[in-house]
Amino acid sequence: MFIVSPSVLASDFSQLGAEIKRVEKAGASYVHLDIMDGHFVPNISFGAPVVASARKKTSIIFDVHLMITNPKRYVDDFLRAGADIITFHYESDDEPSDVIQYIKSKEARVGMAIKPATPAEAVYPFLEALDMVLVMTVEPGFGGQKIIPETIEKVRAIRTYANERGIKIDVQVDGGINNDNLKLATEAGANVIVAGSAVFNAPRAKDVIDKMKKTAELYPFGSGLEERFEKGKVRRI
Ligand code: DX5
Ligand code: ZN
Repeated sequence: MFIVSPSVLASDFSQLGAEIKRVEKAGASYVHLDIMDGHFVPNISFGAPVVASARKKTSIIFDVHLMITNPKRYVDDFLRAGADIITFHYESDDEPSDVIQYIKSKEARVGMAIKPATPAEAVYPFLEALDMVLVMTVEPGFGGQKIIPETIEKVRAIRTYANERGIKIDVQVDGGINNDNLKLATEAGANVIVAGSAVFNAPRAKDVIDKMKKTAELYPFGSGLEERFEKGKVRRI
């Protein structure tokens, strides 16, 4: 299933609940929550208390992207705040398999992200254990950047590797994605699309999301995991 996950980093934080509702009505299935600690990335965004406040306003799936050092230590905080999917970075200093097992032990969905300089091969040993791989298409830290087109080849490599082994997985792209370049990502095998400025800064979010869905129809990479994300079936601690 193709999913649009608007990143609230580009939203009006003073109206966060309403902003999430707005993109939900416009056809988003997830919202992407970028957590930055000023250490793993050179920027600070927001933490679990903000996620918990937003959770009170919506039941949409919260796709939490941890750009932080020691992600394992904060998993419980974000799950308690209402995260449904937790994605951590392969490059963070925790052992990836430990973080994966920990998140899974809490019955949450787990994703692993790689920065532009990290090769696709880095994720291969973990694919079977993961629900999602996030291929960063910009350097993490800031919204509103331009896509680094070379990163798309990693999407293709990961999707091909997974398909050849019958591994069902979501492949997410994040950073600088808009309707001018989306086709590159979906054609390569991405099926979960993060879009911050392209959705939140548009005059009508629905137009952007509708167009994204149309593009995706040309390259339907079903993950097979979608039924686990059906509303109401997502388990939280
Ligand atoms: C970058 C974040 C992205 C970003 C996406 O570090 O992980 O989620 O906010 O925003 P746009 O789509 O504006 O690049
Ligand atoms: Zn992100």
